[in-house]
Amino acid sequence: MATNSKFSYMQIFVFTLFTSLLFITTKARHGNFGLPNELALAPLFIFGDSIFDDGNNNYFDTVFQANYLPYGETYEKGPTGRISDGRIIPDFIAEYAELPLIPPYLDPNNEEFRYGVNFASGGAGALIETRVGLARDLHSQAAYFKNIAKSLRQRLGEEEANPLVSRAVYLFCIGSNDYLFPFDTNSSVLRTYSHEEFGGLVIGNITTVIKEIYNEGGRNFGFMNMYDLGCIPYGKALGSTPNDACYEELTPYVKLHNKALFKLLKKLESELTGFRYSLSDFNKFITQRINHPSKYGFKEGKMACCGTGPYRGINSCGGRRGIKEYDLCDNVTEYLFFDAAHPNEKAYEQFAKLFWSGNPDVAAPYNLKALFESNQELIKDI
Ligand SMILES: *[C@@H]1O[C@H](CO)[C@@H](O)[C@H](O)[C@H]1NC(C)=O
Ligand SMILES: *[C@@H]1O[C@H](CO)[C@@H](O)[C@H](O)[C@H]1NC(C)=O
Ligand SMILES: *[C@@H]1O[C@H](CO)[C@@H](O)[C@H](O)[C@H]1NC(C)=O
Repeated sequence: MATNSKFSYMQIFVFTLFTSLLFITTKARHGNFGLPNELALAPLFIFGDSIFDDGNNNYFDTVFQANYLPYGETYEKGPTGRISDGRIIPDFIAEYAELPLIPPYLDPNNEEFRYGVNFASGGAGALIETRVGLARDLHSQAAYFKNIAKSLRQRLGEEEANPLVSRAVYLFCIGSNDYLFPFDTNSSVLRTYSHEEFGGLVIGNITTVIKEIYNEGGRNFGFMNMYDLGCIPYGKALGSTPNDACYEELTPYVKLHNKALFKLLKKLESELTGFRYSLSDFNKFITQRINHPSKYGFKEGKMACCGTGPYRGINSCGGRRGIKEYDLCDNVTEYLFFDAAHPNEKAYEQFAKLFWSGNPDVAAPYNLKALFESNQELIKDI
């Protein structure tokens, strides 16, 4: 994927950045050059699953694609592989950070990775066994990142590449597929391991990847905890639960995972010098809107806009995943969930705002804005 032109852009960018340092003023944040303010720029590297994928799965053969209507039906770019009606969380975060859209790593036309890369892949898990061949798992994503970091150092030299890598923000949304996949496939894993043991494998593998990125020089990490898989349309349909009940088999995994992720990040903060993070409460966000949709501007919190079966929770939106028939609502903005497992653009925007600048009860110990601003302080120290 490395090409000369990619890194000549990067060199220009870095050159501009360092010359801009001569002009630091308190007004710098919005720049006077009609460009995104280079001083504020920290690249954004995105890791994860279908919540974050902005098109990687378009570039290999998998059932977990969304590059056809009605996906993208409210987006000016149409269907792009984003698994919603419109834009997704990383798009909003990039906008708030004054970055352009972050391109998918696997898009062969992308040569300009100077603002970051999106490695996320629909269906991906932290375990390599999760949906093998149908998604690029977290370890593959980390390997792609290491390629990028290595090329940066080769092209720019350590002195220029290292500050970019350490200023960057690394955003993660991963784990749901590790817990769903054994249920989808009635895997023996569910009987072989206790809830704690299985969750330990997932968290252990996430830990490995965080440390790999830290060892490359990454310092700023953003995480989402996991929504209750048993309470989304997909989980309810999977469990064929009566009377609006959540599928209780899934919930213990989610609870343990969220607790363990919280503990892990605290531990890493104390162990790894310079490690900073934002952990956002996606679970609470979704639960509030499932239970009280009208309080947040939705009419329907339980049933998906697009899909088949109970709660439209069978993952058939668009008719290309084995089931041709599916229902589609008239007004997508009224539905919290666009398809069986993925919120609509409106919900994603609400969440991205909270992750970006919310209080510690939604994003702690820092929100993403604070992570980006701490970079500003670092730059001033150079
Ligand atoms: C799942 O596997 C177990 C053990 O092989 C079997 O007893 C059970 O019927 C299976 N369940 C489904 C829904 O296929
Ligand atoms: C990562 O997951 C694999 C299974 O894919 C497991 O064998 C391994 O022990 C896990 N690693 C950690 C550090 O937990
Ligand atoms: C869709 O729903 C939203 C929110 O309830 C409403 O503001 C909008 O007018 C509706 N659009 C149409 C075409 O009915």
